[in-house]
Amino acid sequence: MANIGIIGSGNVGANCAFFLAEKGVGDVVLYDIQQGMSTGKALDMMEAAPVRGYSTRISGTDDIEDVLRADVLIVTAGAVRQPGMKREDLFEANRTPLSDIAARLAGTDHKVIVVTEPVDLMTALLARQSGLPRERVMGLGGMLDSTRLRYLIAHELGVAMEDITATVVGRHSSSMVPLANYCTVAGVPITRLLPADRIEALFEATRNAGDLIVDMAQRASAYYGPSAAACDLAEAIVRNSGRICPVSIVLKGEYGLHDVAMSLPAIIGRNGVEQVLEPELDPEQKSRFVTAAHELQQILGVA
Ligand code: 2OP
Repeated sequence: MANIGIIGSGNVGANCAFFLAEKGVGDVVLYDIQQGMSTGKALDMMEAAPVRGYSTRISGTDDIEDVLRADVLIVTAGAVRQPGMKREDLFEANRTPLSDIAARLAGTDHKVIVVTEPVDLMTALLARQSGLPRERVMGLGGMLDSTRLRYLIAHELGVAMEDITATVVGRHSSSMVPLANYCTVAGVPITRLLPADRIEALFEATRNAGDLIVDMAQRASAYYGPSAAACDLAEAIVRNSGRICPVSIVLKGEYGLHDVAMSLPAIIGRNGVEQVLEPELDPEQKSRFVTAAHELQQILGVA
């Protein structure tokens, strides 16, 4: 069975492990810089296995080398948002742990899923500093945003969530770009099912979803949605599924942009991203996408 390594065993890392085990995607190795955190959580999850019925093995380690033996890595290390914080506020705090991880990945064959916020910046940083091909470094942004939008559309229409497809591209921030043309209900475009103002309200709710959860819960940021989306992406890689998932990837000429990572739909297989897709954007969507990319370039100093 495939091995999946999780760096960071906080709420997102631990829930990823749990979801991966429940879906039988692969054996999981958890690591955390805090001694004992991973081994304790792994033991707790294994002791739930007789009741939950999973036979996948979850282990914890205090040695990062153990996790680096896995083929697919999910990077959740670093600080998370507290009420009142923006994702960008985490950039300074999280760039050092991400750089340390990137240095260990140089020259390896890993496929890496980046969850640490601010995710587009961390994806670009990790890809650049590790030297891994861009196809093997995937940030979670659009996958999470699309999952949230699927829920919101299903809730609005009172239909089953599995019949909804939704695609959100761009930066994982309030400037993300949900694509109405790529949102369907059992194949029917939502533009035929909902008036424009309702669609825009759902898009706005998607843009604000992460902030709303922090504000409501008044504690650390969302983790069930991010863990579920990361698990889904890891499964697509492990099963070589060919699924099309919006992931943050370093841009190499898409829409004329370079050196920043933002989400685009991509065909996912055993090598990570097998192909990046470039959906047609209308002028307003393109302007949002490009403006967000320029902001990221400024922060990364590559403008
Ligand atoms: C979100 O909840 C974790 O920033 C992430 O959108």
